[in-house]
Amino acid sequence: MKLHTDNDHIFNQICEKIVGRIAITEAETRLLVEVATKGSEGHHFEVGCLWGATAIAVALANPRLNIITVDIMEGEYWAEGDPSVAMMTPTPEILLANFNLFEVADRITAIKAKSYPWPLILPQKCFSFFIDGDHSYLAVLRDWETAKAVTDKYILFHDYQSPLGWYKGIEVVIDYVVLKDIDWRVYEQAETLIAFERVNEYR
Ligand SMILES: C[S@@+](CC[C@H](N)C(=O)[O-])C[C@H]1O[C@@H](n2cnc3c(N)ncnc32)[C@H](O)[C@@H]1O
Repeated sequence: MKLHTDNDHIFNQICEKIVGRIAITEAETRLLVEVATKGSEGHHFEVGCLWGATAIAVALANPRLNIITVDIMEGEYWAEGDPSVAMMTPTPEILLANFNLFEVADRITAIKAKSYPWPLILPQKCFSFFIDGDHSYLAVLRDWETAKAVTDKYILFHDYQSPLGWYKGIEVVIDYVVLKDIDWRVYEQAETLIAFERVNEYR
């Protein structure tokens, strides 16, 4: 199957058309897209869907991947509105409309659930796993444990080393747990998006 030929423009395409916004930068999108294009058939899992933008970016980048995105879909943005989009509130209907707008609805499944306990049947594996949900220490640690158990190749975290130092939980999990895990090594970092690559088989 032919890969998307216009990967450099995915960020702009999403910004122009999406209802809502993408919550990662252009450089971060480039890294997410680069990782996604490495996948052959399989799944990409995501924690933290919001308006669907990062799931759409992966779907556009690689038509061979099926995406499952898990979001609690309540509280914060979902209750009070998204301050970056004039306090508009995301809804499951808007999400689906966004997937349809980019013609990727057949390859993205959005699940309304907390990421812990992990809502999928655990033996279900993925090629890549993007963590961008609850940014607290315990939640990120749990998402990492889930991701490690189900991911064949790449795990990505957003908001690592954010310039304003907002997400201490993410720093602690990555610096003291992920970077010390001998089964994974840093593949690349773009701004606050860091991608890890599996170097040893599942234990
Ligand atoms: C920063 S947004 C995700 C942005 C999205 N990845 C993008 O760049 O367009 C974080 C999302 O995580 C969700 N979330 C927060 N806690 C969660 C949890 N425990 N499990 C699943 N999703 C959660 C929120 O509802 C919110 O929609």
